[in-house]
Amino acid sequence: TVAYLNGKFQNLEQATVPVLDRGFLFGDGVYEVIPVYAGKPFRFSSHIKRLHKSLSAILMSIEVSEEEWLSICQELIAHNQFDNASIYLQVTRGSYIDRHHDIPTLDTPTIFAMISPLPPVKKEWQVSDIKSYSVITKEDIRWQRCDIKAITLLANCMLKQMALESGADDTILVRNGEASEATSSNLFIVRDGVIITPPLSEHLLAGVTREFILALAKRHGIGYEERAIPEHELELADEVWLTSSTKEIRPVIKVNDVTIGEGVAGPVWRRMYQYYQELKEQ
Ligand code: PDD
Repeated sequence: TVAYLNGKFQNLEQATVPVLDRGFLFGDGVYEVIPVYAGKPFRFSSHIKRLHKSLSAILMSIEVSEEEWLSICQELIAHNQFDNASIYLQVTRGSYIDRHHDIPTLDTPTIFAMISPLPPVKKEWQVSDIKSYSVITKEDIRWQRCDIKAITLLANCMLKQMALESGADDTILVRNGEASEATSSNLFIVRDGVIITPPLSEHLLAGVTREFILALAKRHGIGYEERAIPEHELELADEVWLTSSTKEIRPVIKVNDVTIGEGVAGPVWRRMYQYYQELKEQ
């Protein structure tokens, strides 16, 4: 596939960065993942806004406007001819002559983008087409700035691996007794028809999908609350969902071997998923 690196479109396998890049040495960089449906990036502005927010949180700024990002993405879509895809954008602080912890005053960023296929949109989807998840819960061992979409994902990878090794699909993270999110998605529960998700804080990422679901709930008159979810409440919930740009809205039917609701994707999920599918095709 064709990828973008520092102003040039080139074969992904041939794209390389110097070993002195601070992304390689320090994990000094941020990223985004943007879904593309029918050749169009979905919720594009929100992703670019969050990218620039992450950059400013790590004391970086770059001279790439939203229009320029869009034209990079459009070129990736055109070169690779994927109808549905996800685009990965990454910006690191770039390479400097010596390895120093000091953050250099002058940025020479490395800007990278690649695209990978997502499955086609189904016009008539069945609940059985959607993979339900089983999850475990674990203490969140990540840092204190999970609101920054940083490329340093070792803790996330380890926490995900713990789930796979115990036969589950993902891990819901717990800090101070409260469930915040999963290793690469946000968390929602449903109780008595009301959608509940933890409020934004430095302990979780402000998901674009999360924001979109809250907007959909508002538009369709479904009650929602942004409030803390104590870990023990997960098992009492009627429904549990994980949401992200690539997973969309994923029903969770098991938490630590406790079956959630009826053990199948629930009615509020079904409604919300339907709304989501309708809008992504527009
Ligand atoms: N992950 N929380 C974490 C820790 C995430 O990594 C992600 C996204 C989300 C959901 O955000 P959004 O709805 O904006 O995709 C929440 C991406 C998809 C990834 O790392 O691949």
